Amino acid sequence: MKNKLVITNDGSHSIFNPEINETYHSKHGAIVEAEHVFIKNGLLAENNKQFNILEVGFGTGLNALLTAQKAKQKNIAVNYHGIELYPVKKENYTQLNFTGLIGEDNSDLLKLHECDWEAEQKINDFFKLTKNEIALENYTSNTKFDIIYFDAFSPEKQPHLWDEKIFNNMYKLLKEDGFLVTYCAKGVVKRTMKAVGFEIIVLDGPPGKRQMTRANKSISQK
Ligand SMILES: C[S@@+](CC[C@H](N)C(=O)[O-])C[C@H]1O[C@@H](n2cnc3c(N)ncnc32)[C@H](O)[C@@H]1O
Repeated sequence: MKNKLVITNDGSHSIFNPEINETYHSKHGAIVEAEHVFIKNGLLAENNKQFNILEVGFGTGLNALLTAQKAKQKNIAVNYHGIELYPVKKENYTQLNFTGLIGEDNSDLLKLHECDWEAEQKINDFFKLTKNEIALENYTSNTKFDIIYFDAFSPEKQPHLWDEKIFNNMYKLLKEDGFLVTYCAKGVVKRTMKAVGFEIIVLDGPPGKRQMTRANKSISQK
């Protein structure tokens, strides 16, 4: 069964994966969700001018696109790493309507998808991208990250990507003052993160969702 494009409530596309039976984003709005969870509560939550960011589940490239746009607008230097086991196919990524909705040229999104994997690529003066085609379960890196955008399919659909082993690895990949953000606020996920040492902060969720989670590596840093 093939992935297909769907329109979410803010007019932006998402992809529906029939095997997993889940869309890549909230039906309440892909862009609205990404802006809230990963841009407002991720990239813009701290005042730094330089970040190493890891995205789990590169997918449509929406989070990378929004981060690259904000980096350029606010002069923030971003070194972005994205993990993806099943890269989105050309027939899908060429149809995505994100750039028109955020006032960018579509070549910006194409560049994110068509640049080489497994090597650092300069996307704009403020945004470097390294894409790794690898399972999250097998991912290691010498880079230490300031922020992890944890955007896997839900724990109901892929519980093995939300277990203690994975979060232990995420914890190790963060700098001492680093943090992880995710759209998910399920009790079992927060308990698993806490068990590996994270401090859990519950934040207001994007439209259609009551809560989301920020997990800090160091306790009470804020
Ligand atoms: C919820 S989607 C989000 C995608 C992306 N962040 C976006 O905005 O389009 C989850 C992504 O994780 C990817 N994925 C699934 N299993 C994976 C695994 N074991 N390791 C790495 N990525 C995986 C899927 O292919 C999909 O692109």
